[in-house]
Amino acid sequence: MSKKRALITGINGMDGSHLADFLLARGDYEVFGLERRKATYYSPNIAHLAGKITLLKGDLSDQNSLLRAIKECEPHEVYNLGAQSFVGESWSMPEQTSDITGLGALRVLEAIREHGNKDIKFYQASSSEMLGKKGGVANEETTFYPCSPYGVSKLYAHWITKNYRESHGMFAVSGILFNHESERRGHEFVTRKISDGVAKIHLGLADHISLGNLDASRDWGYAPDYVEGMWMMMQQEKSDDYVLATGETHSIRDFLDNAFNYVGIQDWSKYIKTDPKFLRPVEVSYLLGDASKARNILGWKPKTPFKDLVNIMVKNDIKLLSQNK
Ligand code: NAP
Ligand code: GDD
Repeated sequence: MSKKRALITGINGMDGSHLADFLLARGDYEVFGLERRKATYYSPNIAHLAGKITLLKGDLSDQNSLLRAIKECEPHEVYNLGAQSFVGESWSMPEQTSDITGLGALRVLEAIREHGNKDIKFYQASSSEMLGKKGGVANEETTFYPCSPYGVSKLYAHWITKNYRESHGMFAVSGILFNHESERRGHEFVTRKISDGVAKIHLGLADHISLGNLDASRDWGYAPDYVEGMWMMMQQEKSDDYVLATGETHSIRDFLDNAFNYVGIQDWSKYIKTDPKFLRPVEVSYLLGDASKARNILGWKPKTPFKDLVNIMVKNDIKLLSQNK
């Protein structure tokens, strides 16, 4: 039986690499990854995939490169995971964020449409950041109120995905994913900053971590659970929008408690410095998702409890730092 072909933008990001692992483990996929040009060729998240996936050069700001990638790969499924994904940075680069995170989705949709194969399925990486200031428990019907250039850009991408579903009859899914993390998370995100910082303190390599607002709460899950949900959405008869979330929310303080407890530290207050440079012009204080629709229709549920997620991340950073010591 011939394999399905999947094209993943953002292949070397956290989710892109986990999705590639998931599809390859299934055994019935050939995986292509879109990678933009960079000065060095080291991509730690996909180093283990060398020879197992095909990398194509392309950029979400470059329409023709996307069309070429679609032609070369002839995909059955396209997962648009590429983005300027760091909310904090979106205030310093609002235009670039809108171009890549917002218009990038439009460009991928247009490349698929231009290519003309109506059977290609499209997944858009939408975000709970689109809910922004809404507060409370959110599902697919909750009104959006984005409050960062990143959130606004994601909302554009979300709506253009729905629009292409409705105006062009495309199979175009939007996964509204709440925060998910893993040992492959970028170092500027708060969970990785904490796991890396706690590991350094544990190994005597640092004496504090500088953070911003410790009172914000997030619905944090484990990325490998979430990429399975993305794939499940793409296997449905009809395309739709789905929330993926754990249904639990935890503050940054809770994350710190769990991370420091893992290395035997109960009172972590002396290890944390607050630095105003990590505060945001507008803060999303609270995110909590209701993934009932995904549970009922897709049969998806998160498998990794919060405590395990924190432990996986701290344990991994201790291992990495010990190897490099
Ligand atoms: P990530 O680790 O930051 O990965 C983003 C990827 O996008 C990277 O591979 C990056 O490539 C690529 N990229 C950036 N600009 C590009 C461009 N101009 N052209 C092509 N590729 C470009 O993000 P993630 O956490 O895996 O998230 C995956 C997607 O889900 C993102 O769209 C994110 O916004 C969205 N999302 C994430 C979460 C979450 O909690 N993780 C929740 C909801 C939605 P480089 O390595 O070259 O920079
Ligand atoms: N990054 C960072 N660094 N965040 C901090 C810090 C710090 O030093 N101190 C406190 N925080 C707080 C932020 O203010 C925010 O309230 C929370 O920690 C989480 O910040 P991030 O880890 O940067 O993630 P995010 O929630 O803004 O965005 C992530 O989740 C979105 C889904 O809701 C990203 O993965 C987005 O791409 C994703 O769409």
